[in-house]
Amino acid sequence: MVPSGASTGRFEAVELRDRGDLRLEGMGVRQAVRNVSTEIASAIVGLDADDQAEIDRRLIELDGTPQKSRLGANAILGTSLGVAYASAEARGLSAVARFHEIWNEARRNVSQANQSLRDRNSSHGVTHLNDLGQRMLLPLPMVNMISGGLHAGRQLEFQDFLILPVGATSYSQAFEWMVTIYRRLGRVLTERGHEGTLIGDEGGYGPKLRTNDEAIELVVAAIEAAELKPGDDVAIGLDVASTHFFEDGHYRLPSVSSSPLSAEQLVDLLENWVARYPIISLEDPLAEDDWAGWRLITERLGNRVQLVGDDLFVTNVARLREGIERGVANSVLIKLNQIGTLSETLATLRLAIDNGYLPVVSARSGETEDATIADLVVATGAGQLKVGSVARSERLAKYNQLLRLEETLGTHAGYLGGEVFGSAVYRHRTPKFTRDAARGR
Ligand code: PGA
Ligand code: ZN
Repeated sequence: MVPSGASTGRFEAVELRDRGDLRLEGMGVRQAVRNVSTEIASAIVGLDADDQAEIDRRLIELDGTPQKSRLGANAILGTSLGVAYASAEARGLSAVARFHEIWNEARRNVSQANQSLRDRNSSHGVTHLNDLGQRMLLPLPMVNMISGGLHAGRQLEFQDFLILPVGATSYSQAFEWMVTIYRRLGRVLTERGHEGTLIGDEGGYGPKLRTNDEAIELVVAAIEAAELKPGDDVAIGLDVASTHFFEDGHYRLPSVSSSPLSAEQLVDLLENWVARYPIISLEDPLAEDDWAGWRLITERLGNRVQLVGDDLFVTNVARLREGIERGVANSVLIKLNQIGTLSETLATLRLAIDNGYLPVVSARSGETEDATIADLVVATGAGQLKVGSVARSERLAKYNQLLRLEETLGTHAGYLGGEVFGSAVYRHRTPKFTRDAARGR
């Protein structure tokens, strides 16, 4: 099974759909499946399933296009992951054990190559990476509470209003906090006149609000209603997903201003929010093409906040390398289907860790019940996971798998919690939040 995104980046690998067909409104994948059972099968049947790197290399070569548009990234990723599972099964390994093995094999080849880039790279962003990538780790979850943008009928301009339970001391404690806060948020919404609010694609509430800051206020209120401390126990993240309101070099945010904002004005706005709210992470604050805007926000906020490139980097080694060289962002979202093979995904993850960029393994808005990314994030010790809210079974499948892994791996897997940010971001942020500051006094 492979996932699918609604708010895709332009530079992502291409998902092949049947299109032009009334059947499934054109969303069928008969051609992609045919590609697997014919061309792809003839190219890889008989190869060694334990050699993931070689199989992925063959798949990329066979497709032959830069964005996997000929055979389809969905066909290729399904095969790539299928091979990993086949290898695990043949040797009686669990998925997490097999991914850990592949991750360690890949490390030997790649880290050497990343060394020179790291030497050239200036020291912006996060530098204390602790155990990241070194051992199996249960991740710090980044959890959707309120949804907007393309995931909730554009009721709000920004796409995700998330919580990060940075103060929890284990994954299972983090999970309990997330569920409590989500349920309290439901009550807070009702009390404030948003009764009957439905949920968005990723399970976050989709209330009709006038402004984006109102959503942040609601999330802060829900954290407090759960008797937790905003900032110290639970921080806030936003996925601005700004590519999707970027037009002609400007950002259209009617709730903020009737005329479109320049990158600088948007950065001013976000900087103001970072001062007022316990915000610790900003994803896609600038658009996928706006390198200058990205550079600006990295200079202004890069030592205080995790700046995550999603549409910007699309899990692509070349784009992430360009970002590192240009000194933009300090974190990267990792989505298997943005790039289309397991090996390429791991290479991007490795490049990030080797250069002090924090990886966040992520689901898509269109998910399946497959929980592979839960195993992947633990196996690679990537440190953070973003899979939506604590509602909808395709989300809970991942959270539940993490509970199982926590139980079965025991002390073989560590947990960094908020320490994943090292000293730079996390400690700078937390003491500042007060209700008065939030009200702008
Ligand atoms: P998508 O959204 O799967 O619709 O791209 C997820 C995200 O933007 O992080
Ligand atoms: Zn995103």
